Amino acid sequence: MLTLALSKGRIFEETLPMLAKAGITVSEDPETSRKLILGTSNPNLKIIIVRASDVPTYVQFGAADFGVAGQDVLIENGLDGLYMPIDLGIAKCRLSVAVKEGFDYNSAVKQGARLKVATKYVNCAREHFAIKGVHVDLIKLYGSMELAPLIGLADAIVDLVSTGNTLKANHLVEVEPMMTISAHLIVNQASHKRNRKELQPFLDAFELAAQKK
Ligand code: ATP
Ligand code: PRP
Repeated sequence: MLTLALSKGRIFEETLPMLAKAGITVSEDPETSRKLILGTSNPNLKIIIVRASDVPTYVQFGAADFGVAGQDVLIENGLDGLYMPIDLGIAKCRLSVAVKEGFDYNSAVKQGARLKVATKYVNCAREHFAIKGVHVDLIKLYGSMELAPLIGLADAIVDLVSTGNTLKANHLVEVEPMMTISAHLIVNQASHKRNRKELQPFLDAFELAAQKK
């Protein structure tokens, strides 16, 4: 029996059609069910529902054989013990620096100002600003990053942007795209060796579904 780790919301919703292409349906909808372990139409596959940022942890420790996680989470978390064979091309967005409308980010950077940056992605942000030679004080947040510049907690945020609607609604502007993001299939390295025969048909199905997207 194999275990696939997914998070509720967009990852689950966008993975579901990929599983459907492989003829697999899920027994319950995690949005309405409180169950965290879901059966599927394939007796060899069960799904566990975890926080998006916890998916790599479950896979790293082998509690799940494979999972679907955004590159943002993977880069922030590290890839120890993980094999990352397939870009699924779902949950596409980008990681960007954003500031309040009217804040002259480029001048602040040019003048060598020390910037306060609020983000959930402290490792990505630290590396990005270090490469640019910008001095930053990083403030770790777990959500609602857009609020930070509005109420003076930070000069800038590093957050995910897709349509840009959230930034716009909060009078923020994207000043620097950092990287493009999509969700990847990740596999526990030990499980990949041990359960290769069982895993391979699922990996092939994901690969095919990703190509058809
Ligand atoms: P957690 O619950 O662990 O705090 P989260 O709330 O960020 O995580 P989701 O919002 O479901 O979880 O996002 C899951 C993944 O989807 C992210 O890691 C990212 O790769 C991608 N993602 C996030 N926001 C968007 C968006 N607006 N458009 C497209 N993809 C996104
Ligand atoms: C993500 C991200 C931004 C928003 C960007 O939040 O943290 O706030 O999407 O998307 P947009 O550019 O299309 O507006 P999400 O919707 O996942 O909500 P969350 O805060 O619950 O993670």
